[in-house]
Amino acid sequence: MIINKPPMGWNTWNTFGQNISEDLILKMADLIVQSGLKDVGYEYVVIDDCWALKERDEQGRLVPDPAKFPHGMKYLADKIHAKGLKLGMYSCSGLMTCAKYPSSLDREWVDAQSFAEWDIDYLKYDFCFKPANRRADELYRTMGLALRNSGKDILFSACNWGYEDTQKWIKTTGANMWRSTEDIFDNWPKIKEILLKQLDLLQSGGKGCFNDMDMLVVGMHGKGNVGLGGCTDKEYRTHFAAWCLLQSPLMIGCDLSKIDQTSMELLKNKKLIEINQDELAAQSYFVSLRHALVSNEKLGLVRPLANGDLAIGLFNLTDDKRQLFTSLYDYGIKRGSGMTLELENCFTGEITRPDNDVIWVDLEAHDCVVYRAKIVKA
Ligand code: GLA
Repeated sequence: MIINKPPMGWNTWNTFGQNISEDLILKMADLIVQSGLKDVGYEYVVIDDCWALKERDEQGRLVPDPAKFPHGMKYLADKIHAKGLKLGMYSCSGLMTCAKYPSSLDREWVDAQSFAEWDIDYLKYDFCFKPANRRADELYRTMGLALRNSGKDILFSACNWGYEDTQKWIKTTGANMWRSTEDIFDNWPKIKEILLKQLDLLQSGGKGCFNDMDMLVVGMHGKGNVGLGGCTDKEYRTHFAAWCLLQSPLMIGCDLSKIDQTSMELLKNKKLIEINQDELAAQSYFVSLRHALVSNEKLGLVRPLANGDLAIGLFNLTDDKRQLFTSLYDYGIKRGSGMTLELENCFTGEITRPDNDVIWVDLEAHDCVVYRAKIVKA
């Protein structure tokens, strides 16, 4: 599988954990279509951990739990495909999955064959219970090879949390995305931690194999499997904006049958999604912030876009209101060039130009602003 844009979809884990079923998957798939999420690009419906029986069958094959998936996986894949969506599944490279179901260690070839026969489009591959004498890169290379030789084009989503210096070898596995941090929880400290960790990994990722900052918690409001505390709407906005700016895959994790309007609108923000999906897939970089004590909790991040625009995100991760300044010089627009930026606010649609070659914003605690900036004559 070759991909040039971060995958978008929905995954069972964040809200439903082990409480998954065919009915749930079909219901969420219908909601992805009816709500318009499909129209803005969300396409993968991913069944995470806890789908299998604890024992393999007599041929050594994984068996979907018939109490949860009474018609099996091929039936479900056909139903999902008929809705214009794609089906994802989950396995693990260690001795068991994280929730202690059977995993694919030394069964990679037979399992890849099952996924292909079931017409699965995406495999998330986890890292729990890895034997100490085995190397992560070898385990992920084996499954990557098995998937590419399974006869079906299957997106390979590696999930070893950045352990064993993943960024140094992940592209040897043929993976299409790799989890660059540990698990997300639905609270601000976790979102901030993941975002800050990601900043050391900006040179990895990009076309073919994107840095995966983990599934979205937007709209969870403290409910469900990883709903540990919940976030404010402003924090969800900052979370989604950061994931879009840094080109993370966008896998929704909330219950789509209970989602509030504000969260739904955020997840469908076309301007942010366009930035996330931009085909140049360039690396993001920092701009320095002026007139402020510089710390990594006040961030200016930029990414060049394919049509010549810049995506600019100014983030206040501190617990206080802050004013952030950046100079046009730092975006490559020098005084005397005759050029300036026309800034389109991706949340409000408002268009402004910098005053005196400076972009400045007042941001509440945990807030951000993202602009799509056009380079125009001053
Ligand atoms: C790990 C992964 C999570 C999820 C669970 C399932 O913790 O990082 O994303 O898949 O396992 O058990």
